[in-house]
Amino acid sequence: MSEIKPFIAGNWKMNGTKAEALALVGDLKEKYEALAEKYFEMLVCPPFTLIDTVATQLNGSGIAVGAQTLSALGNGAHTGEISTDLLKDVGASYVIIGHSERRTDQRESNAECKAKAEKAIADNLKVILCIGETQEEKDSGFTIEILTKELTESFPENASAENLVIAYEPIWAIGTGRTPTAQDIEKVHAGIRETLESLIGIDDAAKMRILYGGSVKPSNAGEILHIRNVNGALVGGASLKAEDFWAIAEASNYNKR
Ligand code: PGA
Repeated sequence: MSEIKPFIAGNWKMNGTKAEALALVGDLKEKYEALAEKYFEMLVCPPFTLIDTVATQLNGSGIAVGAQTLSALGNGAHTGEISTDLLKDVGASYVIIGHSERRTDQRESNAECKAKAEKAIADNLKVILCIGETQEEKDSGFTIEILTKELTESFPENASAENLVIAYEPIWAIGTGRTPTAQDIEKVHAGIRETLESLIGIDDAAKMRILYGGSVKPSNAGEILHIRNVNGALVGGASLKAEDFWAIAEASNYNKR
């Protein structure tokens, strides 16, 4: 049993109209506010266009709002980019860095992820840093070694358990409906915790949240969220439906296994 409060994060990716977003977060807000004991933390990460709307709607609810990426540069002549200042101005407190879709589609390197995460933390945004292996890498039998390299090379120098969350997302499990076995998730999360110990020391590593992501849904959330060293979930597809996202969050209750 983990002592860390479960952290349930939704990554909306490139989805959501204003009307859909308002309905979705309206529902989540009502449910979260009605919880007598906030036994999990909740975060939603809409596309840039909806951050202002969503943050305004969630203001004071206790549900946090994050972005899906940012620029490592400061404000200025960088057409199309979004800085930490611009994100904070519209109410974001978190940012996802290094999602596999960006590492693939935008060819973001470990060094770039590290620079972005360091900039975000320096400017008081909290970071969810994603790592994960491809199917081919999994088949090679070197998943832990591959993840250790990715994590170490992307890891921000200014990280602490308060400003950094790790998300383990096997690339082959994202949006596919396939998930690793509970044993595999446990093994990988233990490996990540060990790597964190060498990066930031045992005490801080013990407090850092490690999320699992990749085809988390209401039907598997209960099992996944109770695996040792799993401190929450990063949810894609299922975070677009209030009912499903809420059911996943509720499944994190350590008192209800
Ligand atoms: P999924 O996506 O839940 O749709 O598999 C997870 C993610 O990419 O964060």
